[in-house]
Order: sequence, then C-alpha cells, then structure tokens
Amino acid sequence: MSDYEKQSERRRRLQQTMQTGIAIIPTAHERMRNRDSDYLFRYDSYFWYLCGFPEPEAVLVLIAGAEPRSILFCRDKNVERELWEGFRFGPEAAREHFGVDETHSIGLLDEMLPGLIANQPALWYAPGADTVWDTRVLGWLNQVRAQARTGISAPGDIRDVRLALDEMRLFKDDAEITTMRRAATISAAAHVRAMRATRPGKAEYEIEAELQYEFRRGGAQYPAYWPIVAGGANACVLHYRENNQPLADGALLLVDAGCELDGYAADITRTWPVGGKFSGPQRDLYEIVLESQLAAIAAVKPARHWNEPHEAAVRILAQGFIDLGLCEGPLDRVIETEDYRRFYMHRTGHWLGLDVHDVGEYKHANAWRPLQPGMTLTVEPGCYVRPNDKVPEKFWNIGIRIEDDVLVTESGCEVLTRETPKAAADIEALVGSA
Ligand code: GLY
Ligand code: MN
Ligand code: MN
Repeated sequence: MSDYEKQSERRRRLQQTMQTGIAIIPTAHERMRNRDSDYLFRYDSYFWYLCGFPEPEAVLVLIAGAEPRSILFCRDKNVERELWEGFRFGPEAAREHFGVDETHSIGLLDEMLPGLIANQPALWYAPGADTVWDTRVLGWLNQVRAQARTGISAPGDIRDVRLALDEMRLFKDDAEITTMRRAATISAAAHVRAMRATRPGKAEYEIEAELQYEFRRGGAQYPAYWPIVAGGANACVLHYRENNQPLADGALLLVDAGCELDGYAADITRTWPVGGKFSGPQRDLYEIVLESQLAAIAAVKPARHWNEPHEAAVRILAQGFIDLGLCEGPLDRVIETEDYRRFYMHRTGHWLGLDVHDVGEYKHANAWRPLQPGMTLTVEPGCYVRPNDKVPEKFWNIGIRIEDDVLVTESGCEVLTRETPKAAADIEALVGSA
C-alpha cells in the first residue's frame, strides 16, 4: 500500500464533491532570487495536500464522475540534471510511489490537456491565483471551444476548486494533526532555546539564529514565516522583520516564530525580559495579556463561534487597560467605541495549517461559524504601547504578544504548543540560563 493513502483519500473526497468534471491543480513555480540562484522551492499547499509530490514543474489533474481518474504530470528522469540538482522521480516511479492512476511527462501537458478537458461539463481550477496558469488553462479551454463544429463540447461551468478544498483543509485529519503536534513541539523547543540564550548586548539576529538552529535540528524544513525577533520598541511594529538591533537590558523581547514541518506550520509568540526580570509596568501588562489569552483559549470549544475567543480576550484587555490608566472606563464603552484598539489593533487568531494563515471561511451566511472538532487556530492577543502623551510614560514602547496553536476537540481544545512556557515566573527562570 502506498504511503500516500491519505492523499488518495483526499483526492477521492474532492472527486465526490465535484461529482463531475475535471480539476487542474498545479504546484508552485520555481522563482529566481538572484542570477542562477532560486528561492528555496516550496510546493503549492493545495497540490501538496492532494498529492504529496515534492518536485516543481508538476500538475495534478482529477477527473470526477463514473470513472474517476487521477493523473500526475511531472518532470522526466534526466541523468544530466539529476547530477546537478538531485533526484527526480520521473513519471513511472511517481505513479508507483504516490498512488495516482496515471502519470505523464510534464512536456505533454499542452498536448494532452485539451483532450482531457473536451466533453467535460465542468472545469475546476483556481481562477486568478496565478496569471501564468490562467493564460494556459484558458488557452486549453479555447482550443476545445474551437472544436465545437466537430461535436466536441467545452465545459460551460467554470468552478473555483479552492472553495471545495478550503473546506476540506479546514478540518485536519489524523495525519495532519500528528504533523502539527510535531511542528508545535519543535517550535516550543526553539522558543525555550531562544529564551535561554537571551542576554543584554546580544543582537536580535543572534536569537533568530538559535530559533533557526532548533527548527533544523528538529527536522523542520523551513521557518513557517519569517521570524519576528523584536527587542524593545521594535515589538510595537507588528510585522517587524529586520532582526538587526542590539538587545538592551531592561527591555522586553517579542519573538514570533514557528517552523514548517512537512508542509505544516506552527505559529508561536512569546515575550520575555532581556535581562531576565520583568519591570513593574512590563509585568502589569504581561499579566493582563496572559489572562486575556487564557480566557480566549477557554472559549475555544465546539459550538462556540469563531469570534468568541476574540471577544473574551478583548474584554480582559479592555478592563486591564482601564485599570492601568491607558483607557478611560466604563468597560462597555471602551469595547463599544473600540478605544482599546489604540493598544490592541489586531484580531485574536486565524486558522492554521499548511498555510500559516490557513484557508477556510470564518463566516457562513454573514454569521461567525461555530468551532468544530478538527479545526486548528491560533490564539494570540497582545498589547502595543507607542509613545503618546495621553499614556503614562512608564508603558511606552512595551509590546507584548502571547500566541499558542490550538486544536478544537470534542470536549474543548488541545493547546498544541503547550510546551512553550508562558507564566512570568517560568520565563524569568529560563531567560539567560544557557
Ligand atoms: N506569525 C504570523 C501571525 O502571527 O499571524
Ligand atoms: Mn499567528
Ligand atoms: Mn505569529
């Protein structure tokens, strides 16, 4: 039996959803970074989900209906290129290994696709996702249309395959959950290593290096997104990426970093004191963010709707901002006018999976959808205080976020990233201990 049984099952489910027609799902393009040197190749998430084939220049074609077929187009074996770039499966070995019904050379794609599209009632692909594929798919479609006088019909129904796939990807199967648990464990170890390595005078990039080391040491292929290693005021830049400043004693360090393992992302944020001890104002804000995060996690359970964790976090944060003199009460007004957004301007989470901001609808018929077992999401409240004469100066430039990855279960939720310390005392005990 193929190791790729899960992918075969997903292909069958998609074919059942389609009922009829043809789906075309290409992997990602290779992209040049500088001359003769490409960015590290990352397959397309949809393609990977359905096929698990790791090479570039590959396209999956699925035919639904009474005689379902899965067809993979991939690169031929090539002794010369394999000497330079490494192993290629080639169509024959790929068919065996990945459990698809048919494989062909990618060189035959333009020749074969019009014939496969002909007389299919529906064409499923991802319109607008990539202009190169838009042009190519519409070109094949027009070739089929041009044969109308010979009695061949072209699909009249052009469908977005992502709508079907996004809903499937939103609910993680056992294999996905196993991989996401491992990605979470590796990423937790990276945060612990980074905490232990932190000392005043080190640079942000030195802490980034510790994270990257632990990701690779654990077998992860990449960071799931560029790590944010933000000391002091940099923590108030939500997407800070330079990671090139020295770490000052007395400042906080915000680290948002997670690895990608076999395609699946972890996404963790922790915030710790560079010198190993929170100051009074830092600790006051930290405890509020932590309390809000725990309240949000407690709201992750079946039948609660998507926005309830956010609402729970906002309530605690807003009350905390009032208590510390950052906002003026009463609580309901701070929430209703969204005055808290001066310090908490993002949402409390997102779906997580093959993409760090994973696919899936957040609303159905204009209502937040209920959480259901198998969904995975992040819970990541924070607070960011920029210098402002309406705010006590002791809070200026404090940026804090605490982010965990959570799986909705039958009875509540499992915090996948629970091995990452977040109690203030536990963090203080770790920082600088390497
Ligand atoms: N690291 C991206 C995010 O937290 O959404
Ligand atoms: Mn996140
Ligand atoms: Mn994050």
